Amino acid sequence: MSRIAYVNGRYLPLRDAMVNVEDRGYQFSDGVYEVCEVRGGRLIDERRHIERLARSLSELRIPMPMSAAALGVVFRETVRRNKVRWGIVYLQITRGVSRRDHAFPPAGTLPSIVVTARNLDLQGAEKLAADGVAVITLPDNRWDRVDIKSVSLLPNVLAKQAAREQGAREAWFVDDQGLVTEGSSSNAWIVTRDGKLVTRQADHAILRGITRTVVLEVLKEQGIKLEERAFSVEEAKEAREAFITSASQLVLPVVKIDGKPVGNGAPGLISSALRRDFHRHAETT
Ligand code: PDD
Repeated sequence: MSRIAYVNGRYLPLRDAMVNVEDRGYQFSDGVYEVCEVRGGRLIDERRHIERLARSLSELRIPMPMSAAALGVVFRETVRRNKVRWGIVYLQITRGVSRRDHAFPPAGTLPSIVVTARNLDLQGAEKLAADGVAVITLPDNRWDRVDIKSVSLLPNVLAKQAAREQGAREAWFVDDQGLVTEGSSSNAWIVTRDGKLVTRQADHAILRGITRTVVLEVLKEQGIKLEERAFSVEEAKEAREAFITSASQLVLPVVKIDGKPVGNGAPGLISSALRRDFHRHAETT
């Protein structure tokens, strides 16, 4: 089946889906993106993803190219045309096409918008969650506004590759105080020995993950003790459990940090329960 992409108002086979070489996303990473889970062909937490998108755009002073409702229509149509049952819808908006100049293009330059969707391997993902994954740690060398979901992801790309080369699934960034910020494409969590859930406070040093927000709601509802604060690599290595969250990986248990087993080296009870219960709390539309 040929995949279909939405590009600036048209649905095109992927091989014909092109952007201009002078697109500012291509030349300057001058754009933002969102990734939303698709489950049973429906969107998970669409409202929150679109709200975060609007915030990212506004922080970068890129106009929202269409209404949230119109975007929802494009998401659904792209999911439908690609026959996605479980997978992701990807959206990217850039500051548009203009002759190369670092400063903003002339007023009235239209943002570019691309939406793609694809199936992911559900069985593979469940197997990964049942086994748990390894993470490595490395210095956080990103800029100080990673709360904006910008397509400028070079440090994340290099970190993920370093993880792959060391047989790990994710890399956790560590700030200059030895505290974990987040993963290269996920938020980081631990469960302490006394059963408290810990994840870094959402300031400018992490992306405020939508999966993270939903998990926080689950914890509140279930009365589980929570601390929104930074934790060190040492604390994580001594934790009872660890896990990561993202729209495409959901709640994914971490069983090894820098080669050292977490807890008894198997996915923890709390992490597994959160993964199982997640969709009862997320919004499906
Ligand atoms: N990544 N932190 C970073 C750096 C991320 O890239 C992501 C998501 C998250 C988790 O956010 P959410 O729960 O809203 O997915 C945290 C997406 C999935 C990606 O780049 O593919």
